[in-house]
Amino acid sequence: MNKTMRLTAAVLSAVVAGTAAPAFAQSTEVNVYSYREPGLIQPLLDKFSAETGIKANVLFAGDGLLERVAAEGDLSPVDVVLTVDIGNLVGAKEQGLTQPITTPAIERVPAEFRDDEDGWVALSLRARVFYVSRDRVTETALGYENIAGPEWKGRLCTRPGDHVYNIGLIANRIAAWGADKTREWLTAVRDNLAFAPNGSDRAQVKAILDGTCDLAIANTYYMGLMLTNETEPEQKQWAASARIIYPDADGEGTQVNAAGAFIARHAPNVENANKLIDFLLSAEAQQLYADANYEYPAVTTVRPAELTLSWGELNPSPVPLAEVAAHRGEAAALVDELRFNEGAQN
Ligand SMILES: [Fe+2]
Repeated sequence: MNKTMRLTAAVLSAVVAGTAAPAFAQSTEVNVYSYREPGLIQPLLDKFSAETGIKANVLFAGDGLLERVAAEGDLSPVDVVLTVDIGNLVGAKEQGLTQPITTPAIERVPAEFRDDEDGWVALSLRARVFYVSRDRVTETALGYENIAGPEWKGRLCTRPGDHVYNIGLIANRIAAWGADKTREWLTAVRDNLAFAPNGSDRAQVKAILDGTCDLAIANTYYMGLMLTNETEPEQKQWAASARIIYPDADGEGTQVNAAGAFIARHAPNVENANKLIDFLLSAEAQQLYADANYEYPAVTTVRPAELTLSWGELNPSPVPLAEVAAHRGEAAALVDELRFNEGAQN
């Protein structure tokens, strides 16, 4: 029995609820699992379909998709998985869920932002930066080491240390500095916290407006999402109370994380999967990513949104994402060991 025949209509329609999935027409389709939200991804897929005639079936979910791919095994209908965080991309490869991407388009992405065996590729970059109070902070440039200084006592805030965004940051520091210096730094950062870490990146910026925090560690694109938020307009005030400093902009560079894609190991439509990756790395799609979500294009020749550019220039840390990912476990252990989530202890 060939692969196509084993992909029953039942499996496909479970994935694409409400769509009558023709079991023998895979060559004109591509099946996508997406951790990223429909608002960002659906317009891209619609454009892809309009340009190629390939129908994109997509399942959106906030979590559990990698587990699903693993559980489905060689019967999985999925071709392309879109995910956030380098941990998910590297994790997928480590679990054997990927196959090499073959479209030459991936060479548009700098080597440090894709797997060296083409197992995954970044589609957009997200910088983790400092948001500082416009009223209470005068510094215009800061390095990572600066926020460990005594002048920041009781003034820092961030979401919990074990969130993947902070694990990425700490893992980047371990890669850049080694474990000992990072432990010392993270201990000092913990002891400078204004309150025990809780809430989202946006909540930290709200704390700046509230006056309970002077410097928040958060991702840049939230600045854009807050400043343009029409459903919760109060977020515009949170954002307006802060300005962004790119840590180590003049030095080693600012830590970035990635949202990206991989082609599933058992993808039934490999050729279409590569065509989709090719499209997502086109200047047109990269521009859509940049403009819709204020992230940085992974194809670094594509210009970020004007609003994004207004915050300053991103000089990304040169530590390859794969190397950052290799230190995730150590970073998580350090957060536990220091009881970072309990806040300042000295
Ligand atoms: Fe986010």
